[in-house]
Amino acid sequence: MSESVFPVSPSVAEKSLLTNEQYQSLYQESIDNPEQFWAEQAKRLNWFTPFDKIKNTSYQPNQVSINWFEGGELNASVNCIDRHLPQKANQTALIWEGDEPTQDQKVTYQQLHDEVAKLANGLRKLGVGKGDTVAIYMPMICEAVYIMLACARIGAVHSVIFGGFSPNAIADRIVNCNAKLIVTADEGKRGGRSIPLKQNVDEALARKDVTTIEHCLVFKHLSSQINWDDKLDIWAHELTHDMPAVCEPEVMKSEDPLFILYTSGSTGQPKGLLHTTAGYLLYSALTHKYVFDYQEGDIYWCGADVGWITGHSYIVYGPLANGATQVIFEGIPTYPTASRIGDVVDKHQVNILYTAPTAIRALMAKGDEAYATNKRTSLRILGSVGEPINPEAWEWYYKNIGNSQCPIVDTWWQTETGGIMITPLPGATDLKPGSATRPFFGIKPALVNSDGRILEGEASGNLAILDSWPGQARTIYGDHERFEQTYFSTYKNMYFTGDGARRDKDGYYWITGRVDDVLNVSGHRLGTAEIESSLVAHTSIAEAAVVGYPHDIKGQAIYAYITPVEGVEMTDELIKQIRDWVKTDLSPIACPDKIQWALGLPKTRSGKIMRRILRKIATNEHDQLGDTSTLADPSVVDDLIKNCKN
Ligand code: WTA
Repeated sequence: MSESVFPVSPSVAEKSLLTNEQYQSLYQESIDNPEQFWAEQAKRLNWFTPFDKIKNTSYQPNQVSINWFEGGELNASVNCIDRHLPQKANQTALIWEGDEPTQDQKVTYQQLHDEVAKLANGLRKLGVGKGDTVAIYMPMICEAVYIMLACARIGAVHSVIFGGFSPNAIADRIVNCNAKLIVTADEGKRGGRSIPLKQNVDEALARKDVTTIEHCLVFKHLSSQINWDDKLDIWAHELTHDMPAVCEPEVMKSEDPLFILYTSGSTGQPKGLLHTTAGYLLYSALTHKYVFDYQEGDIYWCGADVGWITGHSYIVYGPLANGATQVIFEGIPTYPTASRIGDVVDKHQVNILYTAPTAIRALMAKGDEAYATNKRTSLRILGSVGEPINPEAWEWYYKNIGNSQCPIVDTWWQTETGGIMITPLPGATDLKPGSATRPFFGIKPALVNSDGRILEGEASGNLAILDSWPGQARTIYGDHERFEQTYFSTYKNMYFTGDGARRDKDGYYWITGRVDDVLNVSGHRLGTAEIESSLVAHTSIAEAAVVGYPHDIKGQAIYAYITPVEGVEMTDELIKQIRDWVKTDLSPIACPDKIQWALGLPKTRSGKIMRRILRKIATNEHDQLGDTSTLADPSVVDDLIKNCKN
């Protein structure tokens, strides 16, 4: 780990919203007087009815309950659109950049308002109302933003499913959240390839246990040939054709659900994290403003997909609550060439760019292609999210994309946290490549050892958060017990993040990665359990164990150990078939990079697979397996080492 320091330059400090002294005094206030701090911040939102209680939260065993701003009433879409109209009706809200460099589109706040209102009226006409769940499976087009905000306008709870998921994964999520409506587009495009979105939805809806969907609303994007069911399918443009461009917003309570978003855990099926209205909206808006130092007139670009939490908080809710102008991008960083990100920055004069280490490493691997033909002089701030950024990638990003002029905010957070938790602030924080640095306002991180003891000073341990913050997820939809169990039972009275971290002598945090069975592949969060469950659903596989191993570009790659059913021979053809199976069953992003045929897996006498050993074998640390004497059959280890694929 590099310990080089990049101090805040005077020219950056001068242009930024907060200095180091201001950060420190505001942070102290947020910790000493959280209620006062958050009540003051809550003035950023427009309320129909003011709240009468600021914070009402408990991490006590069997009583975990998180409530902020009770008594208050508001609407998220009004905060993201209507309240900006008096000054900003003609200001651009969205700059859509298509998969092909020739495609783009600008949408003003007035147009955003009208599109959202028409869709919201359309949803009501379809019988969707407050508290109903709407599944959304969309490409990165403006309509994805419209439909999310249209749900928020009428109090429907959206559940966005990442466009890279396969029919089975879509069906699982629909079943879990009881969605009444699914919204999609005919097809999407990424990197020149079409993605058959409507067809994937058709296949998901064909599964027998999918019984709650009443309609499939389809946006025409590429005018592709698709199957059509007159009873079920509705074109969005036909639904909204006669709808008025005004729509009375639903009055929502602070703690009314805003959305459910599925994410992977270390065990079992993905869990639907539930976020509610006021606290989430305030926290995403506040973090967006200070972490990216967003100032009036800035052009901001977050390269995430709306199917992930980063897209929810830093494409939809945070920036729009702040009245920002932003780029939304349908494509990928390397199409048509690795110069695309820099080209888009120049084309739209982007000032703030937020992307992921995996994208940076992919560009790095292309030599100077990413920066040789563009200038990027409009950039002021760079951001990174999703996984630890290695110092080499950090310095490459700083020098070649940011022309050594722009601070990098390395933002650590999670689907569960709703917004950024540990991060530099551009004008306030001296940077160390690879460190997410210091906590955001209201956040009290702690490093905890295996006995649950809080460590002080320089230390390494598991990362937990003491006390609640407004953006925190409130529950796992339909399974509050799992919520308590997963996050609040490891350490008493703390939220356990699942990450490990180190704190250095300056109090800076360095996130070291997951300490559980969650993988982070190209910034996509995947559970080993869900990949294993997809593998064993294949007819030739009796048992499977999945671990991660380091990968130059993806950060982590997927290594699968597979025990075949009796009599099945391993052939290249079968391996290919298994990989294709995972792609169509779960998602192409979950497809194992390496598959090893294993006659037996290392298990304890009680039958528990010892992943520690499998991880060491996959990372080629065969001499560091540790104690194998507790295995039921220690001889399986030799066979595994002999056939190791790395
Ligand atoms: C990892 C994404 C190091 C971490 C916003 C976390 C990071 C998981 C960083 C959450 C970072 C995210 N440095 N690790 N800056 N940002 N992570 O829910 O392991 O998709 O627990 O949320 O990503 O992934 P999720």
